[in-house]
Amino acid sequence: MWGGGVGTAVLYPLVKALAEAGNQVTTIIGGRSQPFIILAKELTSLSTTLIITTEDGSLGMQGFVTAPLAQLLGDAEHVPQAVFAVGPVPMMKAVVAMTRPLKIETIVSLNPIMIDGTGMCGGCRVTIGAETKFACVDGPEFNGHLVDFDNLADRLTCYRSEEATHGMPSECKIGRGTTP
Ligand code: FES
Repeated sequence: MWGGGVGTAVLYPLVKALAEAGNQVTTIIGGRSQPFIILAKELTSLSTTLIITTEDGSLGMQGFVTAPLAQLLGDAEHVPQAVFAVGPVPMMKAVVAMTRPLKIETIVSLNPIMIDGTGMCGGCRVTIGAETKFACVDGPEFNGHLVDFDNLADRLTCYRSEEATHGMPSECKIGRGTTP
């Protein structure tokens, strides 16, 4: 299991379900620094092993979550049956690159831009193998080995120039009669 930042919140119910089903669960969570690490106490009680990483070393191991995952994958006696990865696209892409040669089933939770969330607008389309899928209705969990992460990364940045020109709204204005 692997979660990064708010991805940890997505990971929590999964860890809970796996633990309650009797699985041994190694959970690796990471963030920029200590304040970005959430649910550590809750995940400690559910996980066989909990590993924390922070980029600045303020909590747990210094560095990225890929380092302890590499150690885990290199330990022939403890190679996981499956890996679940939730977090930034570069992180999930890196995890998949590590598990693919070992043929370890890897499930990722994708985070494309979503608009209607009903499968109608096409905003959240992702490429899975040779197929186009809508993350809101077909996912957001997919076989990581089939995901086109470069396409997903491109689509996540498609409004960069508009954001740079107009800025981001400082607060949500939905329901206040103004356009955000
Ligand atoms: S958010 Fe519109 S199709 Fe998924």
